[in-house]
Amino acid sequence: MNFHVLTLFPEMIMDTLKTSILGRAMEKGAIRAQAVNIRDYANNKHHSVDDYTYGGGAGMLMQAQPVYDCVQAVLDKINKERPSNGMASPRIIYVTPQGRIFDQKLAQELAGEEDLIFLCGHYEGIDERVLEEVATDQVSIGDYVLTGGELPALVMIDTIARLCPGVLGSEESAQTDSFQNGLLEYPQYSRPAVWHDRAVPEILLSGDHKKVDEWRLEQSIIRTRERRPDLYEKWLKERNEAGK
Ligand code: ADE
Repeated sequence: MNFHVLTLFPEMIMDTLKTSILGRAMEKGAIRAQAVNIRDYANNKHHSVDDYTYGGGAGMLMQAQPVYDCVQAVLDKINKERPSNGMASPRIIYVTPQGRIFDQKLAQELAGEEDLIFLCGHYEGIDERVLEEVATDQVSIGDYVLTGGELPALVMIDTIARLCPGVLGSEESAQTDSFQNGLLEYPQYSRPAVWHDRAVPEILLSGDHKKVDEWRLEQSIIRTRERRPDLYEKWLKERNEAGK
């Protein structure tokens, strides 16, 4: 997977991605990431990328030209690096509170792509015309507003990257994650077996893997019903439809 992030704050993206599990994954070549500074594509001597909005109102808007030229440069680079001659048409994700809500299912879908381009807005957003021309998707991380698209893009990249082969070790497998099977994850315990008078559930010490699996599923179901009744209803409906 190759992540391409178009931003006014490239160091914010790369500094974060370089750390922790994703940094290790980049060193191993399991994923690749580049942050491209939209400002480098401003065609004026002050390198400004924003301007007032037509019709008035507070705030500045990112202009179409630098964003468009930056996207084209990234597409050219992707095509040059492609082994085959066919033209790549990667998904170009505009990160915005107005988009569809990001979830694990979308993460799984996007993890199957070879290249993903994230377009991060700042100020009051980006001129609508360039979004109409280049964005294939508009995605939000939730119903709240951040100061820019970088943190939401990082949230999405982290979620997608850990689903890519070679990013997580087997001991950190994504298979048992919350949401992976439509349920929240079961509670987990480590040593000691008793801590602050609280004992680890007996069954987990039994060595009976079948019983442990059954207990974990039951706990997942209870937890999801209590904490996320919306997810629980969805899981129930899907299970009934599958005739289980
Ligand atoms: N930009 C600002 N807020 C955002 C959000 N909630 N999701 C995606 N992009 C954003």
